[in-house]
Amino acid sequence: MSNLSLLILPGDGIGPEVMAEVSRIIDWFGAHRGLKFDVSEDLVGGCAYDKHGAPLHDDTMARAQEVDAVLLGAVGGPKYDDLDFSVKPERGLLRLRKEMDLFANLRPAQCFDALADFSSLKKDVVAGLDIMIVRELTSGVYFGEPRGIFEEGNERVGINTQRYTESEIDRVARAAFDLAMKRGRKLCSMEKANVMESGILWREVVTRVGADYPEVELSHMYADAGAMQLTRWPKQFDVIVTDNLFGDLLSDLAAMLTGSLGMLPSASLGAPMANGRPKALYEPVHGSAPDIAGQGKANPIACILSFAMALRYSFDAAGEAERLEQAVNAVLADGLRTADLLGEEGVQPVTTSEMGDAILARLDASD
Ligand code: IPM
Ligand code: MG
Repeated sequence: MSNLSLLILPGDGIGPEVMAEVSRIIDWFGAHRGLKFDVSEDLVGGCAYDKHGAPLHDDTMARAQEVDAVLLGAVGGPKYDDLDFSVKPERGLLRLRKEMDLFANLRPAQCFDALADFSSLKKDVVAGLDIMIVRELTSGVYFGEPRGIFEEGNERVGINTQRYTESEIDRVARAAFDLAMKRGRKLCSMEKANVMESGILWREVVTRVGADYPEVELSHMYADAGAMQLTRWPKQFDVIVTDNLFGDLLSDLAAMLTGSLGMLPSASLGAPMANGRPKALYEPVHGSAPDIAGQGKANPIACILSFAMALRYSFDAAGEAERLEQAVNAVLADGLRTADLLGEEGVQPVTTSEMGDAILARLDASD
């Protein structure tokens, strides 16, 4: 079998620190499990702007289109706050998503047993929580035209457009139904069909796709009520499918239910390539955390679990993904905590690389 190609884009802030731990784990799977990766590394975000004057160089974009999977750390930082909108670090990420056509963004919100006390909700509301938000990622108000700030009479008007075609809704709905089939066979679709035409169409198309998945129990909720239900009793959900903007909000909300934004991975998947693998980018849900960058305080787990998602969704290695997830579970059960997870009496934080060491030790033990 030819080597698997991976493009690593550590990005800004804590991105490089957490990605350094992932690199060690990638090497471990090469040395111990026969998963040989060709890894290349490049810039995205503010660091790319510093070097090239753009948050994503065309060569990096071209490379991302060729590899089996892209792994991204995080982008952004206060240093770049005043940059023109068109070259802000986030634009690099948005360009990758758009040009790779990564329409299905999978954001699991899972509560680790050892961390159920960290949630702002009562323990019994979140213990054992395991839901998956599927966010549409390449359309909607993030990309709709017209957009801009225009003169209108004697003032300016800011315009963004929520726009969805039937085929865009159809393909993300199918991705969500496919996932639901492999999980608890329940799918809840969220929109605002009570006020938005795009929401009416969304509901209609998701319902139509549902006819092809009779085993999946489909329900619909207005997105505001969905937010309320997510905080009231999140365990009523299995898979949620929603648009780009609602998905941005609801996935942050769902992440915080688990008490640990520093723990949550994501996968952004597109259509299959010639080799049958989907176009794919994996990244932690958390941001670049510039306030703690460079201090060894960052939690590498979200980025490590993003690599586990790559093993599962790009490399057909679900067993190896589970091995890695179990290693993470085990170190948490052992009581290891990075600084973001403190709160328990008498617990000393471990550093980013000590967390990496512990996960590697658990992997060794599993081999
Ligand atoms: C996310 C982030 C991004 C988004 C930003 C960084 C552009 O919030 O991935 O959820 O809004 O999609
Ligand atoms: Mg977000």
